[in-house]
Amino acid sequence: MKAVAIEQFGELDQLKMRELPTPEPKSNEVQIKIAYAGVNPVDWKICTGMYAGRANYDFPIVLGADASGVVSKVGSGVSNLKVGDEVFACTRSSRLKDGCYAEYVCFDAQHVVKKPAHISFAEASAIPIGSLTAWQALKEAAQLKPSESILILAGAGGVGSMAIQIAHDLKATILTTAREKNHPYVKKLGAKYAIDYLKEDVVETVKKHFPKGVDVLLDCVGGTDVSKYMNAVRPGGRLVTIVAQPDVKKAEKHNIEVFYVSMRPDGEQLKAIGEKFENGTFKPIPIEEFPLANAKEALQKVKEGHVHGKIVLKISSSP
Ligand SMILES: NC(=O)c1ccc[n+]([C@@H]2O[C@H](COP(=O)([O-])OP(=O)(O)OC[C@H]3O[C@@H](n4cnc5c(N)ncnc54)[C@H](OP(=O)(O)O)[C@@H]3O)[C@@H](O)[C@H]2O)c1
Repeated sequence: MKAVAIEQFGELDQLKMRELPTPEPKSNEVQIKIAYAGVNPVDWKICTGMYAGRANYDFPIVLGADASGVVSKVGSGVSNLKVGDEVFACTRSSRLKDGCYAEYVCFDAQHVVKKPAHISFAEASAIPIGSLTAWQALKEAAQLKPSESILILAGAGGVGSMAIQIAHDLKATILTTAREKNHPYVKKLGAKYAIDYLKEDVVETVKKHFPKGVDVLLDCVGGTDVSKYMNAVRPGGRLVTIVAQPDVKKAEKHNIEVFYVSMRPDGEQLKAIGEKFENGTFKPIPIEEFPLANAKEALQKVKEGHVHGKIVLKISSSP
């Protein structure tokens, strides 16, 4: 099969289209013929070797962990899916090896879910990692409640776009940071207040609306020091980060509870998320398509950090 893989860690130039053996499903797995693969920041981080110390790996590593497509083979022990089912999945595993920038991927069938019927394969491939991360951050870690307020840093990105929709569905009051041109977008998703982080003092603006601070802060921005936003959280509030371990001592000083979420595949949660897309509660996020052959350019754009919604790779038009 065709796949975009790396033979060693390094810059994005390492990404090359290669001919690799098609993976065969184990008894608990299905093989998916991939239509689209979602492109996530974690993909360039893996490429540069940032995860080398935390995960088992084996070159060549095929990048990518979000996929949509059609079940092409089922393992002997699989009963929840059959050949021909249209599916989507987060296929992140503890071993870096067989990813989704490829024509086929195999994964544990319990985490592979039927695609909502009225959304396209391209839209479905943009959902798994972003929505599962936001779901686990807001529902499991923060346990956000209906009357509460939340500040979401980076509302226009893949995780932020889903976090706004999940918080809106929970009937929380949402403030989010985004560049001014993205304000109509984040408000359409459900944010009440959009803060231009380039022009405004974020903490000051939050305090205008919530003088004691918000109940919850979700940090989806890489590379910033989240402790500078701790004053935006009320004493007794919660801070959830998905990008770096928070400074627990500083948080204790502010009387804030902190959580770090590392997303895990979860078929039950992805099914619940799919149902919210099916019934119109969640709306597909804007996507920009690149062909698989241009995976390097797609990942470069993600690495630059200002994607509006999600970038996806088109792998097959007839999965
Ligand atoms: N822990 C986990 O399990 C987990 C899971 C998923 C993702 N992550 C990490 O979470 C981060 C976000 O992921 P993602 O998929 O949402 O990324 P993304 O889609 O690439 O995020 C891009 C967004 O970030 C915004 N942004 C950039 N700098 C900003 C700043 N200083 N303040 C506010 N917004 C800013 C941009 O908005 P503007 O264009 O408006 O600037 C853009 O919309 C990444 O570092 C990723 O690796 C972690």
